[in-house]
Amino acid sequence: MALLKIYHYPDSVLSGISKPIDEIDDEVRQLAEDMVETMYAAPGVGLAAPQVGILRRLIVLDCGSEEEPELIKAANPEILERDGECLEEEGCLSVPGFYARIKRSSWVKVRYQDMDGTVVEREAEGLLAICFQHEIDHLDGKLFVDRLSSLKKGMFRKKYPKILEQQQEQL
Ligand code: NI
Repeated sequence: MALLKIYHYPDSVLSGISKPIDEIDDEVRQLAEDMVETMYAAPGVGLAAPQVGILRRLIVLDCGSEEEPELIKAANPEILERDGECLEEEGCLSVPGFYARIKRSSWVKVRYQDMDGTVVEREAEGLLAICFQHEIDHLDGKLFVDRLSSLKKGMFRKKYPKILEQQQEQL
């Protein structure tokens, strides 16, 4: 197990398109384990491989509670169906210190492979639905701030360098 380095916006790896995972082997399982450890340590509720500098279609998420964790490790995740609309505040470990409300589908049906290679189809709503959409976006090189209106994106671009500077002083 190892803690991985989390890349921050505007690192170019975050806008890359991730490659599908052909085979769930020990290397992929190890990467997922390391990503889980890194996510919990941050702490965060989701992490996608590009955030640790690896352009492969792998995400981990846990939108459960401390009492009832619900860890999901998903390779090649995709959204099959979506419905409804929600507007909730999001943050991202790759955009430290910045939060904004983002419009998403409130319900999704997703398909992915678990770490045994078994194809899983499941429905998700609420925070888990948002989390799946946010993490899958990462695999397509998209961050939540890319979904802001141009006005809010302008505000983000102005504010973020200062936030990042403060964050780095704290590290
Ligand atoms: Ni994120």
